[in-house]
Amino acid sequence: MKLATVSSVLRPAAALLVVLPLLLIGWAEQAAALPVDRPLSQPLQNQETYQAVRDISQHAQGVQTEDDSNTRLMPRVNVNQDHLKICCLHANILDYYLNNVLRHRDNVHPSMHRLKTDLTRVSEDLQTQGCNVTHYHDHHHAVEFRKKLAKIGGERGINKALGEIDILFIYLQDFCFQPKNATATANAAN
Ligand SMILES: *[C@@H]1O[C@H](CO)[C@@H](O)[C@H](O)[C@H]1NC(C)=O
Ligand SMILES: *[C@@H]1O[C@H](CO)[C@@H](O)[C@H](O)[C@H]1NC(C)=O
Repeated sequence: MKLATVSSVLRPAAALLVVLPLLLIGWAEQAAALPVDRPLSQPLQNQETYQAVRDISQHAQGVQTEDDSNTRLMPRVNVNQDHLKICCLHANILDYYLNNVLRHRDNVHPSMHRLKTDLTRVSEDLQTQGCNVTHYHDHHHAVEFRKKLAKIGGERGINKALGEIDILFIYLQDFCFQPKNATATANAAN
C-alpha cells in the first residue's frame, strides 16, 4: 500500500530525468521482469498534467485569505482501506470538481485548459475502469467536503477548492492503480 504523502508533491523533476534513460534502456526486460502497478488513467502519471495541477493550486493558494490557508476541505483518508475504494471516492470528488469548481473557472490561468482536458480524461477512465461515482455521493468524506465548501461559499470557496486540487490529484495518483498481477478490476470497489 502506498501512502498518500507530501513526498509526491515534492517529487523533483530531476528524479524523472535520472530514471527516464534507465527506463528506456531496459524497458522491455523490466516490463516483463518487474511488473509495476499500472495507473488506471495515463494522465495520472503525466508530468505535464502534474505541473498544470501544481500551477493552478499554487496560483489559487497565492490569493486566498489567511483563514482559508489554515483550513482544509479534503478529508484525510484512512489508508488501510481497499485502495480502489479510496480511488473511487476521490473519483466522486473529482467529478464534483469538474461539474462545479472547474466549471466556474475559465481562463484564469494558462494551465487551466490542459488541467480540465486531462482531468476529464481521468474521470472518464476511472468510470470505465469500474468506479461508480454515484455510489460515493453519500460517502461521509464526499459529504463533508461539499459541506465545508458550501460553508465558505462563493468565489472564496471555489478558490479554496482550487488550492487543494493538488491534494486531490495525489490521492488519485496514489490509489488509482491496478496492482501488479491483479486480474480483478476496479468493479470490486463498487
Ligand atoms: C451506482 O451506484 C448507484 C448508487 O449506489 C446505484 O444505484 C447504481 O445502480 C450503480 N450503478 C452501477 C452501474 O452499478
Ligand atoms: C504474477 O504473475 C506471474 C506471471 O503470470 C506469476 O508467475 C506469479 O506467480 C504472479 N505472482 C503473484 C504474487 O500472483
